[in-house]
Amino acid sequence: MASYKTVPGTWGRLETGEALTEDQIDARARQLLAQMTIEEKIRQMSGDMPTARGIVGMLRRYNAVPYPAGENERLGIPGIRFSDGPRGVVIYNSTCFPVPMARGASWDVALEERIGDTIGVEARSQGANFFGGVCINLLRHPAWGRAQETYGEDPHHLGEMGAALTRGVQRHIMACAKHYACNSIENSRFRVNVRADERTLHEVYLPHFRRCVDEGVAAVMSAYNKVNGTYCGHNRHLLVDVLRERWGFQGFVISDFVYGVRSPLAAASGLDIEMPATIHFGRRLRRAVRRGQVPEAAIDEAVLRILRTKLRFAAGPAGPVGEPERYGPQAVVSAGHVALAREAAVKSMVLLKNEPVAGPDPLLPLDLDALARIAVVGRLADVPNTGDRGSSQVHPPYVVTPLEGIRAAAGPDTTVTRDDGVDLGRAAHAAAAAEVALVVAGYDHRDEGEYMGGPFGSQGGDRRRLTLKPHDEALIQTVAAANPNTVVVLVGGSAIITEAWRHQVPAILMAWYAGMEGGHALADILFGVANPSGKLPCVWPRSADHLPPFDPTADEVEYGYWHGYRLLDHEGHEPAFAFGFGLSYTTFAYDNLQLSAEEMPAGGCLVASVDVTNTGTRAGDEIVQLYAGCQGSRVERPARWLVAFARVGLAPGETRTVHLELPAQRLAYYDVDRAEWIVEPIPYIAYAGGSSRELDLLSARFFICS
Ligand code: BGC
Repeated sequence: MASYKTVPGTWGRLETGEALTEDQIDARARQLLAQMTIEEKIRQMSGDMPTARGIVGMLRRYNAVPYPAGENERLGIPGIRFSDGPRGVVIYNSTCFPVPMARGASWDVALEERIGDTIGVEARSQGANFFGGVCINLLRHPAWGRAQETYGEDPHHLGEMGAALTRGVQRHIMACAKHYACNSIENSRFRVNVRADERTLHEVYLPHFRRCVDEGVAAVMSAYNKVNGTYCGHNRHLLVDVLRERWGFQGFVISDFVYGVRSPLAAASGLDIEMPATIHFGRRLRRAVRRGQVPEAAIDEAVLRILRTKLRFAAGPAGPVGEPERYGPQAVVSAGHVALAREAAVKSMVLLKNEPVAGPDPLLPLDLDALARIAVVGRLADVPNTGDRGSSQVHPPYVVTPLEGIRAAAGPDTTVTRDDGVDLGRAAHAAAAAEVALVVAGYDHRDEGEYMGGPFGSQGGDRRRLTLKPHDEALIQTVAAANPNTVVVLVGGSAIITEAWRHQVPAILMAWYAGMEGGHALADILFGVANPSGKLPCVWPRSADHLPPFDPTADEVEYGYWHGYRLLDHEGHEPAFAFGFGLSYTTFAYDNLQLSAEEMPAGGCLVASVDVTNTGTRAGDEIVQLYAGCQGSRVERPARWLVAFARVGLAPGETRTVHLELPAQRLAYYDVDRAEWIVEPIPYIAYAGGSSRELDLLSARFFICS
């Protein structure tokens, strides 16, 4: 028998330790298939969770252990062992990172890859071989309840972050990109029909999935909703025409849990595994094959895809080599992983406003040595608040709250007082008695998140408002009136409308759901131990009227071409805070934008180079962004769209020339009639700078030659 290098304990008796080539993998998969009965094949295609016992377990604690699928003892075929994410590993007690929307604000692909690597190690150490947590649905509207699980609103940025997580995870186990596709309304997710034309799909809602496919992602999870009239788990156009035939996806497709499959016919439309239990597949699928409703060849193809991927990840050159010395109980929530969670939280926080109150210097960072008393106000100041309580909930051994982080950082000479903010008069009093007041305001799992109704208790779902709650807005205004040195720390999963109060406070910091080390990270930023460097991965509008319509009860919705910063730019609405915007305790200047060529062919690539200087007195990281625009296109195009970005660290006074690659392909639009990408031979503009706002950008023209 051939020998295999496998995930320990998951490939059972085929495990011996030798890597296989792709041809050997294919041959071995076919050899296994030839030995299987039709029942065994069909069993590869659904979750192994026993329905009754599984439901009891799920109710006790959802995602407590990995969910297995497709184990076959007779042939020694391991099952996939599913663990969710993306905030970390959801099984047992694992490291809790900031949510992806926060990590998106770091724009740090190397950091995201390290997080992926850590997740892979923790998952594998705890018996999982499959990470169902590369969530890359595009944020069409900030009210989406699961906004926190994705990285932002821009397809390029989203694709790069998702690919980085995939790369890191897949050093150890399989990763799965989800929810394919157009899953960005929560409350009606099981039924909503998203209508979108092919151009909108290919340019806006799908490119990031393709990016993860190109990265070699092992699996894709179909979404619950319908796209253009067909449930995603049954959507042959999405699963076969686009995913497999156009993009060349080699892995397998799993359904979203329980409601992701509606009948055995999904197996004829490109869905490979029904998760997490056998409901429509199993005997019903067997019957459908017997009746000729599902061709037996479709079963064989699905099983081959599953087997090849399992083998690839257990034994193939593309699969994880594995680092046995890193796996084990000692690896879970290790000191290094905890430090990474803190680093990620620090790099994610976005300083939105920082003005002087008295004297020339902005209010932040706070000088602890000069502070005798800080008031920390707000109901969220001292609660563990790592995000929603849906399938992405991670159970870390502890969570550092904002108050705990601030108290731990403050020395014995600084008194930190606490007021829950419930009584406005009392809060004003507490604020007035301190030199600085910090208001922690925003949301928690009751306000936004995966919709967990029924036996799981009613919580989460789409956000009911984009502003803070009226009481929180009144609290900020009251505290700011009582103490001019007021800092607002915001907690939430996406954009917040701040118009009612943002002009009344000197400093605003977006902390997101910052993970188990969030309180320490917050203190690092507030007290200047770290310099803020995050930038918004989604535009913060002044009004909900500047966004696409959002109806969480919709049965039917049209996803048009325009959303986010592209929509605001298109319609000429000034945002409150632009996509890509974020302040630092230092300042950066851009100069000398140069292109490696003024002209390139449609298949070419040019390099944009720009000098970035740290013009302040502190070291800091800057996120350098490159956008493209064009003139005279045959079709309507965004004023600017993101094409590349890089994070650079600069010492005070240091200048660095940052080089960003711009492949011509990123300028293409999708031609619906020809069903292909077109790079038009027209003039283009490259914009480089520190945010998507035109006044923050340098520009240079170039052409595509015909
Ligand atoms: C969610 C998925 C998740 C799955 C398994 C579903 O309800 O939509 O994101 O991976 O549950 O927990």
